[in-house]
Amino acid sequence: MSTNATQFRSKIGLIAATVGSAVGLGNIWRFPAVAQENGGSAFLLVYVVCVLLLGIPVMVAEFALGRAGRTDVIGAFARVTPRRRPWAAVGVLSVLTSALIAVFYLVVTGWTVEYLWQSLSGDLFNGVSHTGSDVGYFHAKMHDYIQTDRLPMIFTVVAATMNMGVLLAGVGKGIERLSNVLMPLLFVLLGVFCVVSLTLPGASEGLEFFFKPDFSKVTASTWLAGLGQAFFSLSLGMGILVTYAAYYPARTRLVRTAIIVATCSVLVAIMMGVVIFPAVTSFGLMDHGIAGTTLVFVTLPEVFTYLPASSLWSSMFFLLLAIAALTSTVSITEVATRCLQDRLGWTRRRAVWSLMLPLIVLSGICSLSFSSLDWLTLGGLNMFNFLDYLTADFMLPIASLGLCLYVGWVAPRKLLLHEMTNNGKFRSLLYKPVLLIIRYLAPVLIALVLISPFI
Ligand code: PHE
Repeated sequence: MSTNATQFRSKIGLIAATVGSAVGLGNIWRFPAVAQENGGSAFLLVYVVCVLLLGIPVMVAEFALGRAGRTDVIGAFARVTPRRRPWAAVGVLSVLTSALIAVFYLVVTGWTVEYLWQSLSGDLFNGVSHTGSDVGYFHAKMHDYIQTDRLPMIFTVVAATMNMGVLLAGVGKGIERLSNVLMPLLFVLLGVFCVVSLTLPGASEGLEFFFKPDFSKVTASTWLAGLGQAFFSLSLGMGILVTYAAYYPARTRLVRTAIIVATCSVLVAIMMGVVIFPAVTSFGLMDHGIAGTTLVFVTLPEVFTYLPASSLWSSMFFLLLAIAALTSTVSITEVATRCLQDRLGWTRRRAVWSLMLPLIVLSGICSLSFSSLDWLTLGGLNMFNFLDYLTADFMLPIASLGLCLYVGWVAPRKLLLHEMTNNGKFRSLLYKPVLLIIRYLAPVLIALVLISPFI
């Protein structure tokens, strides 16, 4: 087993890279939709509780395993407990999960790059009438841009190639440098959108919807949704945090890092709510749908037509999305890259090419899920939706459950303590609560999420 000496170069860089992974389309376009369905800010509260109570402790557990292992996610299990080989299966599952997520996430990243391109070129707004609603027009555009063969495939390949470029440049010069530039830019862009949205006429109504909790909508399923959202938005169960933590220096404080990363992730979700809800209510588009693709590709472009310089706003928005998506896909493809390097002793170059070429082909095929290959379904779901469902509802929770059981019960007790206190350099008041959560609370709740579709 090779020892991995790669490390992030600075504290700010390692935080930027980890935040870059966590802040993705999960926070930006999944969150407002799930929040709307589950009672606005009541869901926000549920989500924040899930992040604090479970998200941060599980994140600390992933960091601890990663930094103790100092290798890829499969190797980490083997190194920490050489005699408990079967547990490495949890690592294998994480690698598989991350690779499958990469397949469809690259397609979405491609869409965001395509919309960025079409906004910059002005094509997105070429046919708007400016008299009354252009919702129908944007639906037609969405069809042209993401429900045909050629363009989505081209832009999926573009996104995957950019992703590959970053991986080839390496952890310090690629991932860390990219994150150092793009993450501050993402927050600036989001800040600008918050200001614009808050100054729209009638913004307060949207804010009220988002911030005035409707507890009558909070049911058991809201909690399950909050838990799922917390895990996805913090990139848990994908092997990413284990892999990245292997690049953390020995002096990095894991709990503090987890709190910073989780705070940034929650902050982005809240800021996104502040952008979306006033914008949508201000133009009377709430009933029109703020779910998923409709929100991003139809409702928001419609909002932009009401603003002067629509193309500029639209370009900025899709740049924001593309940044969020790219820094996430980079992190998820790093999981298998590191694995190929450390398991097979390959050079980084060879590992990146061997991973990305098949991925480019697979995501290219997946990009046809809404066009030529829409007949290819499993359980009524096209390829894209099937991968999403399989990973989010089954593979991610199982991998997280395995990880909690492993760190809580199987790995040597001192692993978590040593990593949380940097080998006893300071005391950690949170050690006991984190251990209890990892051992009991998290496994029980994750198991509930897993079985909930069947009861
Ligand atoms: N936290 C990420 C998000 O919100 C999850 C993710 C990471 C998804 C990497 C895909 C790839 O989007």
